[in-house]
Amino acid sequence: MTRQDDLFRPLDAPLPAGVYWLRAQTSLDALLPQIEALVAQSPWRHWQVPGGGVMSVESTNAGAVGWCSDLKGYRYEHHDPMTGAAWPPMPAAFQTLARECAARAGFRDFAPDCCLVNRYAPGARMGTHRDADEIDFSQPIVSVSLGLSATFVWLGAERAGRGVPIEVSDGDVVVFGGDARRGYHRVKPVRGDTSRHGYRINLTFRKAR
Ligand code: SIN
Ligand code: FE2
Repeated sequence: MTRQDDLFRPLDAPLPAGVYWLRAQTSLDALLPQIEALVAQSPWRHWQVPGGGVMSVESTNAGAVGWCSDLKGYRYEHHDPMTGAAWPPMPAAFQTLARECAARAGFRDFAPDCCLVNRYAPGARMGTHRDADEIDFSQPIVSVSLGLSATFVWLGAERAGRGVPIEVSDGDVVVFGGDARRGYHRVKPVRGDTSRHGYRINLTFRKAR
């Protein structure tokens, strides 16, 4: 399917209140220099999860705080536990993109203090969860998809069920806030054939503190 067809493809079901899908707002090509610079400071790593395994995605962070996980649980930290240094500052271009996308979805003055960066090799996935480690749930989540396409599944208030599949391509942004802020969601295993970049990167912007 060409990108043009994609822009006009209807959703299988309407998006629930508080969930917004903004297409083609940016691209991996546009943001890769900043991503490479921050990975040079805080490298990719697979977080351990409290259950004992590791996540299939590789992660890092930018911003005043970073989302971390280990056997003891999930939390935000001011320092990268791998390097002992502060997380790299959030690039200005990231701040602007997150703020503009939030505003487009009706959330004014979004000022994220965390950008969680996840890299999905083909086959990597994100299990069902909700973003619930933050303090202020009046602030939305802004989720930027780069590189390989993926199926982001919006489940909403219930963990179970089929949910609403959203086919996110390079540069697409999903914003969720208001009634949807604590909705369950997941990402299906990423397919390897939709971008000349052999991976997917997701930037999740949050106001954590
Ligand atoms: C997440 O919700 O943590 C990741 C979302 C995504 O990769 O699209
Ligand atoms: Fe999430």
